[in-house]
Amino acid sequence: MLHFGLILFIIIFFGYNLKRITILQIVVIIQIKDLVKIYRKGEIEISAVDHLSFSVKKGTFLSIVGRSGSGKSTLLNLVGGLDTPTSGSIVFDGKDISGLSRSELAFHRRYRVGMIFQSFNLIYSRNALDNVILAMIFSGISKKDRKERAIRLLKQVGLGDRIFHRPDELSGGETQRVAIARALANDPEVILADEPTGNLDSLTAAEIMDLLIELNQKLGKTVLMITHEQQMAQKISHRVIRLLDGKVVDDIMTDKINEIE
Ligand SMILES: Nc1ncnc2c1ncn2[C@@H]1O[C@H](COP(=O)(O)OP(=O)(O)OP(=O)(O)O)[C@@H](O)[C@H]1O
Ligand SMILES: [Mg+2]
Repeated sequence: MLHFGLILFIIIFFGYNLKRITILQIVVIIQIKDLVKIYRKGEIEISAVDHLSFSVKKGTFLSIVGRSGSGKSTLLNLVGGLDTPTSGSIVFDGKDISGLSRSELAFHRRYRVGMIFQSFNLIYSRNALDNVILAMIFSGISKKDRKERAIRLLKQVGLGDRIFHRPDELSGGETQRVAIARALANDPEVILADEPTGNLDSLTAAEIMDLLIELNQKLGKTVLMITHEQQMAQKISHRVIRLLDGKVVDDIMTDKINEIE
């Protein structure tokens, strides 16, 4: 009888904690701990990211603001696996990516995150359809399905009638839409956007923002976006982090945060 009670206690105790751990893993998608990135240029050392620690809950629309040179792109590139930290860790969906090999980082970049840049970073000699298809080339999806999915994504971002246009035959806003479709190609959990509206006029910028908000609200994607538009960031985001000299100097939850609690 005593044994039975003990076994029951162990099952309940570990069961409860296991559930807690699982819930924590589900809720937190990115956990940054004591992250440091130092660039060395000759004699000079620049702490682009300086002992940063914060976590991001799944489904968050997080805006990162801060003046030029404050470390925003460095931080996003570290999360996206484009660069490796000097020290500290980034736990992404339960897995530490700070010590990954080159090929593991390539996998992370390709399948776990979708990156959108101010300068679009598309292949200019290929049309919109090819740019999106190429992102899926090693994904194991059949050729036919890759094409179908690319067309569906381009339609989703409002470019159904521009799929055979090359980037130089598209407007800035349309080009950024192609980049967004490409970022979604492998259905990543997290979208990383580095000033995605920086090169666009205000009306087109608003359209691209609406698209990113839709990805967050309708598809539940976690979005980390760098922007210089602080008022807009405050209005649309769940959370706004301000960097200065590689450190967090402000971390504000807006009233929209309740939507994801
Ligand atoms: N590859 C590099 N080598 C040396 N220093 C670098 C490198 N990349 C960035 N830095 C330096 O690190 C600091 C942070 O740069 P980062 O690009 O992250 O700033 P940022 O906040 O994105 O600025 P901006 O708003 O102008 O894009 C800057 O001082 C920059 O000069
Ligand atoms: Mg930058």
